[in-house]
Amino acid sequence: MPLIAPSILSADFANLERDIRLAEEAGADWIHVDVMDGHFVPNLTLGPPVIRRIREITRLPLDVHLMISNAEAMFQHYREAGADILTVHQEACVHLQRTLAAIRQSGAKAGVALNPSTQPETLQYVIEDLDLVLVMSVNPGYGGQKFLSSATQKIVRLKEMFSGRSVWIEVDGGIQEDTGRLCIQAGAEVLVAGSYVYHSSDPVKAIHNLKQLVHPASVV
Ligand code: DX5
Ligand code: ZN
Repeated sequence: MPLIAPSILSADFANLERDIRLAEEAGADWIHVDVMDGHFVPNLTLGPPVIRRIREITRLPLDVHLMISNAEAMFQHYREAGADILTVHQEACVHLQRTLAAIRQSGAKAGVALNPSTQPETLQYVIEDLDLVLVMSVNPGYGGQKFLSSATQKIVRLKEMFSGRSVWIEVDGGIQEDTGRLCIQAGAEVLVAGSYVYHSSDPVKAIHNLKQLVHPASVV
């Protein structure tokens, strides 16, 4: 079964607690929190004080996606607020290996996100330093965009590169049942879904739909 990480970017920010509990009760595995700084991406969302409050209302791991320019200097604030998984963008980190090592040192899992135009090979020399790769299947910044099908090729390549290692491949952007299935078939283990879950008339069913997608190799 894939791990499902609903993205609260598409939740009702005036009812965040309700929407997080709903995801938890529907069997979500992680809560995906999108942090945007208005600089690395053309949108602004939330910061450590909101994450600190979310930490108090759920026991699910907080999967924090940092779409910020100065992640190297700032990640510690998100860790202290309660992030369990901290994902930085490859494109935003000059000293990527140092940043990943520091994230692990803080006790969090270390992830790297790749924009759609970024080569998987940029991770070749940090393979040992990673717990997760986040494949962006849209250009980051907004929910509700169309899935870019090049993401599946990238997932296949990353699976080859990370073969035999325990690294999660997570995919983010335009995930619904059909695109989620393509990603699972390509080898992804974690699906992020924002608008498909929170703009659905039945968010619980949407989470269940994603949860039942299976990798062909696991079908006997
Ligand atoms: C986009 C964010 C995503 C976003 C996905 O920059 O990283 O996590 O919430 O939204 P959907 O699932 O609607 O594409
Ligand atoms: Zn995200």
